[in-house]
Amino acid sequence: MLDRNNELTAWDRDHFFHPSTHMGSHARGETPTRVIKTGEGVYITDRDGRTSLDAFAGLYCVNVGYGRTEIAEAIAKQAKDLAYYHAYVGHGSEASITLSKMIIDRAPEGMSRVYFGLSGSDANETNIKLIWYYNNILGRPGKKKIISRWRGYHGSGVMTGSLTGLALFHNAFDLPRAPILHTEAPYYFRRPDRSMSEEQFSQYCADKLEEMILSEGPDTIAAFIGEPILGTGGIVPPPQGYWQKIQAVLQKYDILLVADEVVTGFGRLGTMFGSDHYGMKPDLITIAKGLTSAYAPLSGTIVSEKVWQVLVQGSDQMGALGHGWTYSAHPICAAAGVANLELIDKLDLVRNAGETGAYFRSELAKALGEHRHVGEVRGDGMMAAIEFVEDRDDRKFFDPSLKIGPQVSAALLERGVIGRAMPQGDILGFAPPLCLTREEADTVVKAAAEAIDSVFTKL
Ligand SMILES: Cc1ncc(COP(=O)(O)O)c(C=O)c1O
Repeated sequence: MLDRNNELTAWDRDHFFHPSTHMGSHARGETPTRVIKTGEGVYITDRDGRTSLDAFAGLYCVNVGYGRTEIAEAIAKQAKDLAYYHAYVGHGSEASITLSKMIIDRAPEGMSRVYFGLSGSDANETNIKLIWYYNNILGRPGKKKIISRWRGYHGSGVMTGSLTGLALFHNAFDLPRAPILHTEAPYYFRRPDRSMSEEQFSQYCADKLEEMILSEGPDTIAAFIGEPILGTGGIVPPPQGYWQKIQAVLQKYDILLVADEVVTGFGRLGTMFGSDHYGMKPDLITIAKGLTSAYAPLSGTIVSEKVWQVLVQGSDQMGALGHGWTYSAHPICAAAGVANLELIDKLDLVRNAGETGAYFRSELAKALGEHRHVGEVRGDGMMAAIEFVEDRDDRKFFDPSLKIGPQVSAALLERGVIGRAMPQGDILGFAPPLCLTREEADTVVKAAAEAIDSVFTKL
């Protein structure tokens, strides 16, 4: 066993090019390789037999938890019956057609069709192309710019990496590309003027957006994209009134709204979609992660009837849509999606995300809210974050080179719990599987309190 582990570690360092990894330190063996072997409920176990409570559900995606045989069996059956057929020129499988109906049944009002992809990134690429196509069909070829937000995360392709508003995903990749613009992040804790109320800060964000639209020219702005709650940018719920004020500006200038629900779709905020949770009325919705709980890679663009009608007009003028992936609506992934959505309903996980999520966040706040280096405990539904500061009263942030966030997440892992050091700022994020119990939430809170104490005692 030890030999096999050593062999895997050597192969890993020599041949596996990992995503989002410090390439040099990994290849040189300065950071550990962890080979994950099994998963059950909210726990994963590695080849060394070490078990961890995964309080980030992989990458906020294993929403139903690990080891669900219902989904594994649906995948196996589909692989035996029909592993693959494409979805071009009107082809489909029972699973992909059923899944599209199940998604629209659960989606916010006004949604009409689902275009399937494989990742959140490719679904957002589809969105960008559909937005451009839409305005070309409407005879508005100059209306093409897309406004995203600083700290938004929308993927790491060329265009979706441009939509993403985090420096790490731009630096040395020649991103962002035109025609993508970034506006204010709705990050109340980091508001420019501390005397602002949440409503005032929301108004400030909406004013900044309107200023940008006017200075660029409203006839050049096609769409605005945002996650209902900022995810990778720091797990930041929108300030009071934010989406209402933003949507009023978008309506004024005939700008489409894309809700990127890759994280929030299918229950994470205690409602089926984050758009319903915050009163958003999107024209397009991006889905991925929770659609299959990551048992198979599947994403989608949900298209509203308003946009769909223009797309139909487009193919009547121009012929078939020139956009498709070989694996769009892959039958095995679609079968995983059907079984996953059935399980979410059967186990009442959307309700649990709301209720146990609220309990988890309030216990975190009770245990850590007054800590001298905790600036804020925040979140919504089954998403939570702790932001660390050097000085609470002055809201002074730590020198990034101290890497407080990664230190805390490493200390947490030593205590058997996985949380994520968010990539920008000293923020420990949690997004556990939606099946988390109160006892498991208590375990996470206790480990987090101990980990934080251990890091700041050393400092
Ligand atoms: C909101 C959001 N959109 C898009 C993506 C990109 O998804 P993927 O990593 O599947 O390409 C992510 C990934 O974390 C995300 O959080």
